[in-house]
Amino acid sequence: MSDQSKREFFDREAFGWNHRYHQDDELELQRLVERFELKPGGWVLDVGTGNGILIPHLWRKIEHKGKIVALDFSWNMIREATKVEKGRNICFVNACVENLPIKTQTFDCITCLAIFAHVNDKRGAINEMSRVLKKDGKLYIAHLLGKKELAEHHRMAGGTVEHDTLPPDSEMIDMMRNSGLKDIRIIDQPNLYLASARGG
Ligand SMILES: C[S@@+](CC[C@H](N)C(=O)[O-])C[C@H]1O[C@@H](n2cnc3c(N)ncnc32)[C@H](O)[C@@H]1O
Repeated sequence: MSDQSKREFFDREAFGWNHRYHQDDELELQRLVERFELKPGGWVLDVGTGNGILIPHLWRKIEHKGKIVALDFSWNMIREATKVEKGRNICFVNACVENLPIKTQTFDCITCLAIFAHVNDKRGAINEMSRVLKKDGKLYIAHLLGKKELAEHHRMAGGTVEHDTLPPDSEMIDMMRNSGLKDIRIIDQPNLYLASARGG
């Protein structure tokens, strides 16, 4: 599906998105964020922020000395996210991950929750995230399902996301390495896919 169709799909989905997560998922999110290397005062880019579900968890780790840039290509998702968090050290950006309107080496950490399978130009996205990550900063690409479960989940959902999958590990490692990222690790188990890497 084209980027345009996907953007329209997420624009339509934005208003009911809260209901996609259950109480158990909140616990999973807490556990996930515990894995993130994030220090008070850190600058974080949350790519594909959706309605901002990850933002309160990120604040807990960086405290309010840090900065969050919440980015999404769906304007309606961004509008929903601004309802969750306002007036703190946060800014919202309506843009595509493949073309980030952000200076090189800006962030200590980049988080991508439940988005990467939907991205058409995965190599372009990795290159851009690597560019805006500081040297030794951390990139986390996560889904709360393993690779196979996620493919099945999208297949069952059908329509716009029917064919959205994660790349084989060898391809992910190759894309990350070629973009200059290092210390690449992939966890792929039931209920968690987490590809992480360090800025080079
Ligand atoms: C499945 S939702 C996940 C939202 C949120 N991270 C969560 O876990 O609830 C995927 C999000 O990624 C955004 N997205 C998909 N492809 C994108 C792209 N190429 N650039 C920026 N955002 C994108 C969608 O608009 C949507 O909000």
